[in-house]
Amino acid sequence: EDSVPIPQPPPSLFRGNLGDIDPSNMPESSWALAETYGEIFKLQIAGRSIVMCNSYETVNDTFDWDRFEKPIMGVFVELRSLLGDGLFTSRSDEKAWGVAHRILMPVFGPMGIRKMWDGMMDIISQLVLRWDRLGPQNEILCSDDFTRLAFDVIGLCAFGYRFNNFYREGTHPFVNQMTDVLVESGKRSNRLSLENKLRIFSAQKNQANVKAMHDLCDEILEERIKNPQPNSTDLLNTLLYSKDPQTGETMSRENVRFNMCTFLVAGHETTGGTLGFLFYHLLKNPEKYMKAMQEVDEVVGEGPFTVDHLPKLVYVKYAIYEALRFMGPIALNHKHALKPTLIAGKYYVEPSDLIMLNLKSFMHDPKVWGPDANEYRPERFLNGGYENLPPNAFKAFGDGPRACIGRAFAEQEMIMAVTVILQNFQVEMADASYNLWVQPTLTIKPGDFRIKVRRRPGRN
Ligand code: HEM
Repeated sequence: EDSVPIPQPPPSLFRGNLGDIDPSNMPESSWALAETYGEIFKLQIAGRSIVMCNSYETVNDTFDWDRFEKPIMGVFVELRSLLGDGLFTSRSDEKAWGVAHRILMPVFGPMGIRKMWDGMMDIISQLVLRWDRLGPQNEILCSDDFTRLAFDVIGLCAFGYRFNNFYREGTHPFVNQMTDVLVESGKRSNRLSLENKLRIFSAQKNQANVKAMHDLCDEILEERIKNPQPNSTDLLNTLLYSKDPQTGETMSRENVRFNMCTFLVAGHETTGGTLGFLFYHLLKNPEKYMKAMQEVDEVVGEGPFTVDHLPKLVYVKYAIYEALRFMGPIALNHKHALKPTLIAGKYYVEPSDLIMLNLKSFMHDPKVWGPDANEYRPERFLNGGYENLPPNAFKAFGDGPRACIGRAFAEQEMIMAVTVILQNFQVEMADASYNLWVQPTLTIKPGDFRIKVRRRPGRN
């Protein structure tokens, strides 16, 4: 078959395309290059060939799991020191992935997640308390408080453990250790291996961070084993005692610990970043803010917010989806071809190529999203808009067997948090002239985005 060459910015002899990107900000680099090169382009970085897919047609073709899979390359390899064969960083053919996936899928379903309502509300109330105490004069750094929220929710709902980030001046040491490891892993994956070997001190610091995090998870585990809580609805009992329906095995102790770290990594920056983006959009588009608040007032009013309200908060849910479509926390998704193949019937790739899916450009493709793809408009999903999208159009949570296992968890947590915030507070931007910029770690979030909050009249 005839293939069409994949465009590539002219590489330099020694550095390949390193000069064409900012290695610490791959998302923004890829959006900028997509503007120039269109639906697909290629980069040569640290000895590896990266193929970036930017359009609906090219990305959608890689969701064919008979021809493509999630590769454990690049940053995923680096993250294995912390996350091992946990769900996020294991190969699909690793035994531990199958065991954990089968054991955990049912408890992560919407019905399993509803049991976590009280735990989530407990932490959301702590955010409300903090915002009340800060009062309308103080600025709130969104990424800080939404990180506190997301981290504490996972700690409590997954392991029955309180990180108590709302009771600290800064954040729990685990949060900082984790951020350091995520940033360092990203950097290591863009360096040549020789250079990584020479960076002895940063490697030692990384190991110390990883050990501290593993030690904390082990402590939480030992505590639960010594003091069983048979009635707890958190995930720790499932992790420790549930049996794989296929092999009859429980998860190994080491794998439980890797998955504990995995939930903390996968669940806190993503959820926290999405809430930050969401409030950015709502505050930039006051009529959308009003619509979301009106829905909250109609559905929940001043009364207590209960699990039965959840399915009725449609605008709130699609406001979150639209924030994810516009610019989600996971900017790039990774794939590779199982055999040499043609992407979209024309672009030749080999299994050694790392295929990156540029989710922002993909979810702005005007062929799917129309001429107003660059506008923040939750209405596009209403009245069947979501159901009638072409196949695989909305993929903020990934695809296929390796899609986000925490989707229902994240959706419930975010809908709950947004509803409680809109029910009780009037939120405004601390600086009305703020322009969105992106702060990258493993995920992206709005950089230095600050808000001010005051109680809505009569709501206290
Ligand atoms: C995987 C997005 C929240 C746990 C993924 C993937 C995406 C994603 C795109 C696929 C990654 C890949 O293909 O490499 C999101 C977004 C979230 C979110 C946008 C919030 C807005 C959560 C939460 C948890 C979680 C709250 C846990 C409680 C995981 C795990 C995986 C995963 C364990 C790996 C699944 C596997 O490969 O088997 N997520 N996620 N995520 N996510 Fe999430």
